[in-house]
Parts: sequence; structure tokens; C-alpha cells
Amino acid sequence: MSDRPAPTLAARLRQLTLVLGNRLETELLLAHVLGVERSWLYAHGEAPLTPAQQSALDELATRRLDGEPMAYLLGFREFYGREFRVTPAVLIPRPETELLVDAGLEILGSDDTSVLDVGTGSGCIALTLAAERPDWQVTAVDLSSAALAVCRDNAARLNLARVELLHGDLLKPVQGRRFDAILSNPPYVAAGDSHLDQGDLRFEPDMALSADDEGLSVIRRLVQQAPRHLHAGGCLLIEHGYDQAAQVRALLDQQGFIGIESRCDLAGIERITLGRLAHPRG
Ligand SMILES: C[S@@+](CC[C@H](N)C(=O)[O-])C[C@H]1O[C@@H](n2cnc3c(N)ncnc32)[C@H](O)[C@@H]1O
Repeated sequence: MSDRPAPTLAARLRQLTLVLGNRLETELLLAHVLGVERSWLYAHGEAPLTPAQQSALDELATRRLDGEPMAYLLGFREFYGREFRVTPAVLIPRPETELLVDAGLEILGSDDTSVLDVGTGSGCIALTLAAERPDWQVTAVDLSSAALAVCRDNAARLNLARVELLHGDLLKPVQGRRFDAILSNPPYVAAGDSHLDQGDLRFEPDMALSADDEGLSVIRRLVQQAPRHLHAGGCLLIEHGYDQAAQVRALLDQQGFIGIESRCDLAGIERITLGRLAHPRG
């Protein structure tokens, strides 16, 4: 057995920061391994790390060096002020998607509103709406049963088990039903786009990211199906790619939506498009 003293937390933090080149990420990984808040580390620099803690930390650091997203390593990502569990089965919630939630909260009625989130993934949209508006009836759909399992877990953690979760392709699971609003952050990156081989996207599920037809195939099908599932005056709100706003507006227009508008994210990029249905289809 080695009689070298166990490294202290502060020493390991310094050493690993040099390896990862990022102090914040190192602190987050260390706090995660120790099961403590980040602030706890500052007051306990002299604490020794056990061999088990050291190897858990080494494993996470290796995965981070390989480019794995922090959210998957930590298992959580914050969205709209709440923590969502994330695994490689779901897209990591993005700050831009908060814009879709903002728009939904702003334009929809305050009570007894029925809302459908299509392609719910972690559930960040559906569960946030349900948490913000306890009187809304929220339904969420995903084609991935692995993603739905993560969403169900998040619903339980957030005390939102009342949110209805359905498995299936786009609006098939809600055949014969209508809603006041349909929101979606669907896959919209063009299949084969070089961004899919870069950064976090390499680790996220392809089903959550990419679509055929220059990234528009899922959006196109959703817009076509939506008029049979909205009440008169019902809203469709869609997040899309940075260069897809004009095409999405045209798709909504072709399907009889009115009041069509696109809204920009903080970077000034048209990121969501929405419209109201004047005349529902039978
Ligand atoms: C871009 S992710 C969005 C996840 C989550 N709503 C968010 O904003 O972080 C798209 C989601 O749509 C799901 N999806 C892809 N194709 C689908 C389809 N045809 N029907 C239903 N869900 C689909 C994927 O499994 C994935 O969870």
C-alpha cells in the first residue's frame, strides 16, 4: 500500500483545472462527485479525496476531455429556473427554447387552456408550462420512448405527474383531439449538416436533431397535421433553424394560419414562428 497522503480537494482542483483548462467546469465536476454544492468546496479545501472519489473524478475528466457535454456528465441542465434531468436519450435544453415558452405564456389564455408539446424530449417545454400555469392541461408527445422515460422522471421530480405523456409520431397519439395551442421544438438541422459532427451535437440523439428536406421534413408534417388538432383561434408555435423562418412562415400560410410572425432570440436571429388558426379543419 502507498503511504502517500491522499490529495486534498484544493490540490486536485488546481491540478485538474490545468488539465481541463476551465476552473468552473472542474469545480462542477468535483462538487458532483462529492455530492455537495459548489460553494462547499471553498470552505473545505483541506478535505482529502478518497480513492473512489478520485477515480470517479478522473473518469468524468476523461469524458469531458473527449468532448462529452457537461450536462450529460452532471445529469442535469437548468431551464426556465428549474433543474431538468438529462441523459444522452434527450436533447440538452437550450436557452433559445425559453423564447418559445415565453411566447406561449404571453399569448395564451390564463385558465383552462389545453396545450400540446410535440417532441418533448426532457419535457422542458411541457413541464415548464405546466409548472408556470397550474390550471393548464398539458400533454406531451415524443417518438422516443427513452426520451419519454426521462420526461416522466422530470415530471415526478417537479411534482407534475398530471402532465399527460404519449408515445408516437407527431400528432398520431392525439388523433381526434384538439388543443388551444401546439408548441414544438422539433428536429430541424439538415441531415448531413457539418454542425452535427461538432461540439455537443456529436453526443445528442440524431432523432432529436436532424431531419430530411434541408431540415424541414418534420416541421412540414407538423404544420400539415396541426389544423386538425387545433380549436378555432388555436396557436401553433415552432422553434426552427436560424435560416428557416421564411420557409416556416410560408408553410403556416399555406395551411391557413393567420397573424403569422417570427420572433428573434437574444442574438437577433429569427428563432420561433407562430400563427393562429382561423378555421379549424375537420
Ligand atoms: C429538438 S428535440 C427537442 C426536445 C425538447 N422539446 C427541447 O426543447 O429541449 C426534438 C424531440 O423531438 C422528438 N421527435 C423527433 N421526431 C419526432 C416525431 N416524428 N414525432 C414525435 N417526436 C419526435 C425527438 O425524440 C426529440 O425528443
